[in-house]
Amino acid sequence: MLILGIESTCDETACSVVQDGKKILSNVVSSQVDLHGIYGGVVPELACRRHIDVILPVVEQALNEACVELTDIDGIGVAHGPGLLGALHIGLNFAKGIAWSLRKPLIGVNHIEAHLYASIMSHSKEVLFPAIGVVLSGGHTALVLMQGVGKYSLIGQTVDDAVGEAFDKVARILGFPYPGGPVIEELAKQGDASKFTFRGGRVKTNPFAFSFSGLKTAVLYAVKGQGTSYDKKNIISDDQKADVAAAFQEAAFTDIVNKTVKAAEKEGCKTLIFGGGVVNNLALRKLFAEKAAGLKLLWPASDLTLDNAAMIAGLAYHKLREKPEGDPLDLEAMTTIDWDQS
Ligand code: KG4
Ligand code: ZN
Repeated sequence: MLILGIESTCDETACSVVQDGKKILSNVVSSQVDLHGIYGGVVPELACRRHIDVILPVVEQALNEACVELTDIDGIGVAHGPGLLGALHIGLNFAKGIAWSLRKPLIGVNHIEAHLYASIMSHSKEVLFPAIGVVLSGGHTALVLMQGVGKYSLIGQTVDDAVGEAFDKVARILGFPYPGGPVIEELAKQGDASKFTFRGGRVKTNPFAFSFSGLKTAVLYAVKGQGTSYDKKNIISDDQKADVAAAFQEAAFTDIVNKTVKAAEKEGCKTLIFGGGVVNNLALRKLFAEKAAGLKLLWPASDLTLDNAAMIAGLAYHKLREKPEGDPLDLEAMTTIDWDQS
């Protein structure tokens, strides 16, 4: 079965053709990093305009690289949330247009669930469920209990910033462009984490929930001075930036690893399934390898960590098998998701 997947939830326009949920025939991603870099984050209006400009050539390229015609496709999978509303509408309406014209099923996919599926499709062996899904992206940070593909319940999520967003903001505080994750990872390698004391936030109501807003503010005050804002001059030297990056990264990742390992113990899970752009970070992978040594760690392949459409097409295959008629053509874009409904 051939599925065409479309992704436009944030600042990547992507299209992919995937066979039987796993075999990637093409995986085309048009990134907008050049567009948003100087603003320190994604500007929704600019993202929408770029999606409109590139979606048709991106879909054509994905079909060409897969050596298939539109008429060969069995279903159109599309990320219909969560994400930026305007950005979602472009991919969703494009997918609806193709599905309607071909009289083929439309399959709406949850982008976050697809990030976790990216790890599952990266491995040939059967995944041992129940597992803890660890979503670490620019828009989301969550721990979910996975009983199988499509069977989830939320254990805890961030009550404020996502961890990737915290990386992006810390990079901005230190004077680096968006996306901040790769810059902070590189800088942290040269730094001494013991030079600054930061901690991930605790959430009173749920030991498995996250809070990174306080950590980000602690970094801001360490770099710019107590009670100050982003545009103030630094009170640290340029050489100390690496120490700040190392201490911030260690605090964020220690918090994530501790909560994840406790959640796995509580739920009796032997497998951790990772998804989202932050799982690119090798320091994170190393810390999990040390602290979760008894657990099976499922990381996505490197071309499936950041936003892509192969994970959308892959997951859509499973949804289509469960529901061969697909979703109605009035399927709505969703800015947020309810895990317990997915
Ligand atoms: O999953 P993704 O492409 O977008 C969302 O769905 O949100 O993730 C993008 C996020 C950005 O915040 C970026 O800074 C972060 O992933 N990121 C990283 C690294 N590479 C990307 N964070 C930490 N370390 C990295 N190496
Ligand atoms: Zn994403």
